[in-house]
Amino acid sequence: MIGNDIVDLALARKESNWKRNRFLDKIFTIKEQLLIADNENPEIMIWNLWSRKEAAYKIYNRETGIRGYFPLRLECSYENEISGSVSIKGNTYFTKTIISNAFVHTIAVVKKENFDAIKKINSNETVSKANGIPFIIDKQTKIIKPVSISHHGRFWEGITLID
Ligand SMILES: CC(C)(COP(=O)(O)OP(=O)(O)OC[C@H]1O[C@@H](n2cnc3c(N)ncnc32)[C@H](O)[C@@H]1OP(=O)(O)O)[C@@H](O)C(=O)NCCC(=O)NCCS
Repeated sequence: MIGNDIVDLALARKESNWKRNRFLDKIFTIKEQLLIADNENPEIMIWNLWSRKEAAYKIYNRETGIRGYFPLRLECSYENEISGSVSIKGNTYFTKTIISNAFVHTIAVVKKENFDAIKKINSNETVSKANGIPFIIDKQTKIIKPVSISHHGRFWEGITLID
C-alpha cells in the first residue's frame, strides 16, 4: 500500500499563514513543534512534516476505512530531511521526502522494501475511484492496482507499485 502528498511551496505561502496563532498547535505535536522551532528553515520543516502526515493518512484510510481530520494523531518520527515514519494507533508507515525550491513531495509505504517498487503514473492515465480512493486497471492483466494521487498548485504526482 502506498500514499503520496505534494505541496507547492508558492501556493502554500499564499494559502497558509503558519505564523498565525494556534496553527502549529492544531497540526503538530509538541515534539514536532520542537523540530520546527529548532530548524533553520521552519517553513520547509512544516511542509515536510505536513506532507508526511497526509501521505501516511492516505494509507491509513485505505487500510482501516477510518476517515477524518486528525493531524495530531498522525505522529512523525523524524530521522532526517528525507526519511522517517508516521505512526497512528499502532500502525507505522515509512516515508521518503524530496524537497526542492518549488515543492515538497512525500511517499509513504507500509514496508520499507516498497520504496524500491514505486512507479510514477502519468497524469493522462485513466484513474478511477472507489469510495473516493483512486485505482487504475492494468491494461494488460486487467488487475486493479491501487494508486495514490496528489495535486497542489502547479504539481501533480501519481504513483503505484510495480507488480
Ligand atoms: C483526503 C486528503 C488526504 C486529501 O489530501 P489533499 O492534500 O487535500 O489533496 P491531494 O491532492 O494530496 O490528494 C487528493 C487525491 O487523493 C486521493 N484521495 C482522496 N481521498 C483519499 C483517501 N482517503 N485515501 C487515499 N487517497 C485519497 C484522490 O485521488 C484525490 O485526488 P482526486 O480528487 O483528483 O481524485 C485530505 O484532504 C484529508 O482529509 N486529510 C486528513 C488527514 C489529516 O488529518 N491531515 C491533516 C494535515 S497534516
